[in-house]
Amino acid sequence: MPSLVFGIQPIGRFNGESEPVKRPKEFACFSYDEKHEFRLDDSSLQWYYPPRLGADLSKGFDKFDKHDESIDEHLDSLLKTIAAHEKEEGKKIDANIVTWRDNVGTVRGPRWNISTNLIKDCIFIEDNYEFKQFSKEQQNKQQRGRRGQFSPELMTYWGYKFEALSCIPRPWGEVSREFIENRDEHIVSNKAQYCSVVRTGVGKTVLCLGGEVDAIWDSKPTQKGAPTNWIELKTSAEIRDDRGMNNFERKLMKFWIQSFLLGVPKIVVGFRSQDGILTKLEEIQTASIPETAAKRGVRSWNANVCINFASEFLEWLRNTINDEGVWRIRRRAGSPTIEVFKVEEVGHGNILTDEFINWRIKL
Ligand code: A3P
Ligand code: MG
Ligand code: MG
Repeated sequence: MPSLVFGIQPIGRFNGESEPVKRPKEFACFSYDEKHEFRLDDSSLQWYYPPRLGADLSKGFDKFDKHDESIDEHLDSLLKTIAAHEKEEGKKIDANIVTWRDNVGTVRGPRWNISTNLIKDCIFIEDNYEFKQFSKEQQNKQQRGRRGQFSPELMTYWGYKFEALSCIPRPWGEVSREFIENRDEHIVSNKAQYCSVVRTGVGKTVLCLGGEVDAIWDSKPTQKGAPTNWIELKTSAEIRDDRGMNNFERKLMKFWIQSFLLGVPKIVVGFRSQDGILTKLEEIQTASIPETAAKRGVRSWNANVCINFASEFLEWLRNTINDEGVWRIRRRAGSPTIEVFKVEEVGHGNILTDEFINWRIKL
């Protein structure tokens, strides 16, 4: 079967005023508990409480309670949460596309390989698990090749350690001073998560996205869908020179996309020294990132281009994927095009669970 192709070039055509973007509104949430078991509630929500500077982010690496990533989780938890919401409402959600937030974030990534499935006018997108694992290994290999660097596993740990140092499990005032002061002694785990499920839109496409939110500043508003003071936590190397500044600005694009898609208004960046000592905190308003980048004359990215690209691509995708079965979306490294082709004529290729299909058939 011939592939169907979306041309990225010339990138300039995505310039100009951005397409309308809806404010993401949370309509459901779920948690993974400390064993990474699914719970249809907000039990793993954490509150932000500033960490102590000078902490060693490597501390406790030997005790890291790491989630086993060798299991492909597909969209399972997101589908469970959507089905539960639909049962409550008595109707299906109106999204054209359902996926994890991170899959949209990689829309302009260097390589891209995801599977999709269409049921009743809704496209379900998951990343290609084998491809993702392969890419990660390649990335780790590259990092290992650089002399004088810490292991990629340790550097990944720094990110989770920063979260452990910056969060408390209940609002401030309900947690003892002792607990807060002892955070540096706590075992770091990445098994528990709070995930927000939002309705949002880019251009003419309505999206349902699920994604992890690191913490909250104060409390969830009582009114469903009202703006929430979510916090995204990030670590980054201290900026020591122009090259460091360029790297950070490039990272800001990733931070912006990640937070913008779920409606996370604030990012707390923990700057660390080369050897993983937390040296500085900076609070960045997500909404200010595009403007800041433009003012500084950052040429590597432009928020409007991202939005317009996503808008046009998603619309094209909806027109192209017009039949059941499993499809693949692929962009080869450096290629100016994105290809779409069908890989299975029928079925759901594990993208959808039987439970979800059986539920949706009734609607
Ligand atoms: P940092 O982002 O501070 O490096 P998130 O920021 O999305 O909440 O993710 C938390 C941490 O998970 C990251 O902290 C990083 O350590 C790790 N992580 C997330 N995505 C990763 C990826 N693609 N490769 C390696 N580590 C990743
Ligand atoms: Mg996170
Ligand atoms: Mg984070």
